[in-house]
Amino acid sequence: MIVGTGHCLPEQKLTNADLEKMVDTSDEWIVTRTGIKERRISLPHQTTSDLSAAAAINALQNAGMNASQIDTIIIGTINGDMKFPATAVFVQAKIGAANAVGFDLGGACCGFLYSLNVADGLIASGAAKNVLVVGTELLTRVTDWKDRTTCVLFGDGSGAAVLTKSDGVRGLLAANMQSDGALTDLLYYLGEGTKYGASCETIDKGYHFLRMSGQEVFKHAVREMCDASEKALSEAGLKPQDIDLVIPHQANIRIIDALAKRLNAPPEKVVINIDRTGNTSSASIPIALDEVHRSGRLQPGMNVLMAAFGAGLTWGATVLKF
Ligand code: ACO
Repeated sequence: MIVGTGHCLPEQKLTNADLEKMVDTSDEWIVTRTGIKERRISLPHQTTSDLSAAAAINALQNAGMNASQIDTIIIGTINGDMKFPATAVFVQAKIGAANAVGFDLGGACCGFLYSLNVADGLIASGAAKNVLVVGTELLTRVTDWKDRTTCVLFGDGSGAAVLTKSDGVRGLLAANMQSDGALTDLLYYLGEGTKYGASCETIDKGYHFLRMSGQEVFKHAVREMCDASEKALSEAGLKPQDIDLVIPHQANIRIIDALAKRLNAPPEKVVINIDRTGNTSSASIPIALDEVHRSGRLQPGMNVLMAAFGAGLTWGATVLKF
């Protein structure tokens, strides 16, 4: 079960008005098509582990725990500090979690939900006791600021949760995690891997930028996120009306609205912060989770549905009793 939450958003804001000066776009287009008004951009010296460590410390304080009590750190990220070592070990050092083992999990926008699921399994098996799960993405570092179809969408951020053994009532009730490797060409980053090692040619060709077929991803997102949510709810033995709060991945307000409509969830049950954060990928759900937790909108004992989709394509939904 989740015993503490935290998040970190960089201070620097990038508004739609700022973007109007950079590419051929408008505040009206961005708000109508995505729901985004502004997003946070990390400063050049800020790294994935910096934001992760800040969110982690926040979550540990919220849980009333010390870093030394954490035995496992999982960072859901696809854009870590460096290719290796894992960002999790940088976070381990930064927060002083000397007794932990750390690793990263690359699930794109599903990174946090996938990591939560792994953490829950480790705890259930007895392999771990106190797990720190963090979703962090600095996708603005791989954004092509000349491509108006993607540069208006993303923001940076990090969210964290501390998990311990269920008390028998609270905890993960069900998770439905999926992926389809036949759809890799819809959303990807070509450069710096074993397929296209960095060279002058890859830089010239823009391989170090994220590329996306937005419309195609959109169609899959609505369909698959709804499907995973229904499967997870059914596995948990719950009906949509039993859910107190829906925390969807914040990628597009129209996708969130479609999910809410399918679940028949009224606005007061659906958490939305995309207007202020943009799409922070694996960080979006844990940031929203922490915001509603701290504001008192999320109370212990509530049934929460979290749903995400992202590059892969990956998608999934988790039902928990908070
Ligand atoms: N400003 C103004 N016009 C624009 C912009 C912009 N920023 N971007 C695109 N347009 C234009 C297009 O060129 C097109 O013009 P045309 O009709 O003359 O060709 C028109 O607007 C419509 O473009 P579409 O791509 O059809 O717009 P759509 O309504 O599909 O919205 C969007 C695009 C916002 C990207 C949407 O498809 C979307 O949100 N997709 C899902 C994205 C996502 O969630 N990704 C997964 C998570 S990310 C991860 O995993 C890392």
